[in-house]
Amino acid sequence: MIKVVSTVCETRAQVKEWKNQGLTVGLVPTMGYLHEGHQSLIKKAVEENDRVVVSVFVNPIQFAPNEDLETYPRDLEADKRLCDSTGADLIFHPTPDEMYPDGFSTHIQMDNLTKELCGKTRPTHFGGVCTVVGKLFNIVQPDKAYFGQKDAQQLAIIKRMVRDLNFDIEIVGCPIIREPDGLAKSSRNTYLNADERKAALILSKAIKLGEELVADGERNAQTVIKAMTDKINTEPLARIDYVNVVDALSIEPLDVVKGEVLVAIAVYIGKTRLIDNFITAI
Ligand code: PAJ
Repeated sequence: MIKVVSTVCETRAQVKEWKNQGLTVGLVPTMGYLHEGHQSLIKKAVEENDRVVVSVFVNPIQFAPNEDLETYPRDLEADKRLCDSTGADLIFHPTPDEMYPDGFSTHIQMDNLTKELCGKTRPTHFGGVCTVVGKLFNIVQPDKAYFGQKDAQQLAIIKRMVRDLNFDIEIVGCPIIREPDGLAKSSRNTYLNADERKAALILSKAIKLGEELVADGERNAQTVIKAMTDKINTEPLARIDYVNVVDALSIEPLDVVKGEVLVAIAVYIGKTRLIDNFITAI
């Protein structure tokens, strides 16, 4: 069975042993309750590295007080089985105290890229993400780290952080994994009741509509936004947080669909906030 460690010290000792043997190390940061989306990252990491570390840590500082830290789903035994069967070598599963001991007071704060999209309604979120990912990078010191395009803004932010702070790590982005009916896989999908699960399909339908419009030549960002907004609003259980068209690297809003473009949405289905997106290069 896969080895699980909970301290920084044990993780460092294991990685050091591997590096002394000349082995390469991949890191897949997660908050656990792993599904096929996470698994696709782990698979890619296993293909591209000699050893793979998966971190499983529900990071308290990326949740605002009114968010779902308490209820966020957790199942370490299932996570172990998935990591094991996918070929990972080590799970780093620290306690909040191990990551944030008494007196913790240093944070990574990004000025740009964090204000739009999810940063608007979650202003403290990406500071928490950058801080924990920066710590994980320093603890594991991987050659490569894997992130999903499901969280496209997070992926852009991590790439920028690595560039800005000179982490010697290659960031590998991985495509969105979906349920057979189109819903992007997410640990938060477990919050949805049967009616909400059906209603949640409006996200991937709106994404598909946006993709089709752009593929058919639509270049006016507002037209794309309006069409997607109208589509989402046909679903009574859906409440839009945002529908936006931004530059995929800078996360700056665009008027014209041109260059590497991220079209991203966040929609509440009942109380559950879901995200989806597509990226297109024109
Ligand atoms: P979490 O939501 O557990 O996601 C971990 C990684 O899995 C992220 O890179 C995310 O983009 C990827 N992922 C999730 N669902 C996916 C899907 N359907 N298809 C492809 N990739 C998917 O993102 C976080 O955790 C945290 O913010 C973290 C980076 C671990 C920092 O705490």
